[in-house]
Amino acid sequence: MDELSAETIRAALRSECLGRQVLYQDRMDSTNSTAASLARKGAADGFLVIADEQTAGRGRLGRPWVAPRGGALLFSLVLRPHDSPLHKCPRGLDPRRAQALTMVCSLGVRQAILETTGLAAQLKWPNDILLDGRKAGGILCELGLDGPRLAYAVVGIGLNVDMDARALPAEYRATSLSNELGRHVPRLRLLCAALLYIEQRYRSLLAGAPVVEEWAAALQTIGQRVELSTAEGMLEGIAEGVDADGALLLRLDSGQVRPVLVGDIAAPGPA
Ligand code: BTN
Repeated sequence: MDELSAETIRAALRSECLGRQVLYQDRMDSTNSTAASLARKGAADGFLVIADEQTAGRGRLGRPWVAPRGGALLFSLVLRPHDSPLHKCPRGLDPRRAQALTMVCSLGVRQAILETTGLAAQLKWPNDILLDGRKAGGILCELGLDGPRLAYAVVGIGLNVDMDARALPAEYRATSLSNELGRHVPRLRLLCAALLYIEQRYRSLLAGAPVVEEWAAALQTIGQRVELSTAEGMLEGIAEGVDADGALLLRLDSGQVRPVLVGDIAAPGPA
């Protein structure tokens, strides 16, 4: 297990804003909960909260997020698009466009994985990071609203790095970077690369550049027949693409195309 600490992170950082302020603890309930509480007290854009272990890690849709101590990257970023030193963007980000922050983070993590290990990760709509078809990571984006305006977002990233994911429950269909490579993978280099590549895309997003094309191209979901569990029940069809907000465009068997912004792919199948 490699040593993460506020000092080692600061010394290895390659990013200009993300991670310049950091709270590291060996154990925390959830880095997302801690980051949200710091954001409510005014933590600035780019504040990094990171832990070696979470006692109440959370995934999407109320699921727990489990990882052994020291084997995963477990971190959250406070983002304030209307008040970022990276680019003046006084109008900020419309909360309805917040999936763009998940896009920025998943693409940054994917590039960092490629740079540090040579592994080509795929993304699965809406927030999964896959290696060889198994889940290696996920992103949980939670918003703090001030009326209709986005006051802050907390983007939490969990990535199975240096651990045996086969010890996790089989239904997670999980893997890790070290499982895929068959060797020890240090976390610090990967973390600093991820912060750099997330920052580059976050800066472009603030400057008005769309990230959706790059994200759509990295989604292995597109073109597949999927079963989607949504608030309206199960939907089945072909995932044809995504719209500008990140909604999955699902072609139902009736021929109708339905945009789905919140859902979970239950079972991928052949197109
Ligand atoms: C998912 O795939 O459902 C999203 C998982 C997100 C997990 C990360 S781990 C760091 C951060 N803190 C949390 O409690 N959750 C996110």
